[in-house]
Amino acid sequence: MKTVLTYGTFDLVHIGHIRILKRARELGDRLIVGLSTDEFNRVKHKSSFMSYEHRKEILEALRYVDKVIPESTWEQKVEDVLRNEVDIFVMGDDWAGEFDFLKEHCEVVYLPRTQDISSSGLKGQLRQG
Ligand code: CTP
Repeated sequence: MKTVLTYGTFDLVHIGHIRILKRARELGDRLIVGLSTDEFNRVKHKSSFMSYEHRKEILEALRYVDKVIPESTWEQKVEDVLRNEVDIFVMGDDWAGEFDFLKEHCEVVYLPRTQDISSSGLKGQLRQG
């Protein structure tokens, strides 16, 4: 039983999100998503259109996602990996190298992002009408 863990805000779920969740899940048997809370988004100078509760409910409805946990600090990752007995940590390659410190505890994989789509890009396009 291989457990995979990834993190993100997953606002306005789009094809880039679906693809990374699918590929992350395919690396193991169980996928846990650390979902950024609204408070943590503020720390990251991000704001999501959808609330944490709605983003969580949407992720939980996806076939690739087995469990959603809150991401509320930058520092929680080692503890999450240990507590959930994580085998593989996955992030998009926009984060390449940033989480190599987790290699002490699990495998760390950076997957290529889907080109030309992001939640912030979608919000900009929707604003323009
Ligand atoms: N992701 C991806 N391809 C995209 C957009 C996101 O593979 N086109 C991945 C990210 O690399 C990350 C996960 O999806 O591992 C969650 O990313 P998130 O920051 O929530 O999505 P973005 O659309 O990049 O959001 P924003 O524009 O607010 O940064």
